[in-house]
Amino acid sequence: MADAQAMFDLWCNDPQVTRFLSWGPHGTIDNTKRLLKSWQQRYEDTMFYNWCIEFEGLPIGGIDLIMRSVKSLRAELGYCLSNRYKGRGIVTEAACAVLTYAFETVGLHKICAKHDVENPASGRIMQKLGMRQEGYMKLDAQRLDGTYSDMILYGILRDEWLR
Ligand SMILES: CC(C)(COP(=O)(O)OP(=O)(O)OC[C@H]1O[C@@H](n2cnc3c(N)ncnc32)[C@H](O)[C@@H]1OP(=O)(O)O)[C@@H](O)C(=O)NCCC(=O)NCCS
Repeated sequence: MADAQAMFDLWCNDPQVTRFLSWGPHGTIDNTKRLLKSWQQRYEDTMFYNWCIEFEGLPIGGIDLIMRSVKSLRAELGYCLSNRYKGRGIVTEAACAVLTYAFETVGLHKICAKHDVENPASGRIMQKLGMRQEGYMKLDAQRLDGTYSDMILYGILRDEWLR
């Protein structure tokens, strides 16, 4: 909870950061605190994995895995970084650590991720992780401005990651 102010200032209230996300700028720090509280409450729940991306002692972003199928051991990867720190390979490094944990410690079978076609930097991260494009979903997600975006779906299997 001590990270709430930095989290609000650095990424959660920045419309440039949330442009391609399912949620909009927090507006007030109370919303950031509410989100953190919900993450704390889900901490023991193995359906959700939330991490902070820390750089030089500052919380500068978040990265998460959400279980999409417990039976198939399949999860979806998501990430979000302060604009001040983009372009330094930080999310690629964080995602690499998360995939290592997910496959080697948790023992997941498959990880998926998807991005808006207008957000190619996110897709580049997926490619750098060794994920393969599995689908192109036409007008699949409604953006906050009401328009619909084509989404590109990527995936990677545990065996592929270990190889
Ligand atoms: C998009 C985001 C995740 C990128 O994080 P980052 O730490 O800057 O990413 P990295 O530096 O690890 O890698 C980005 C890659 O995309 C490339 N890239 C950047 N802009 C690009 C563009 N317009 N087109 C194609 N590739 C682009 C970079 O060159 C880099 O690839 P390289 O290492 O081969 O040069 C980050 O800016 C962010 O969180 N944005 C807001 C939230 C968001 O969009 N989340 C993803 C939702 S799916």
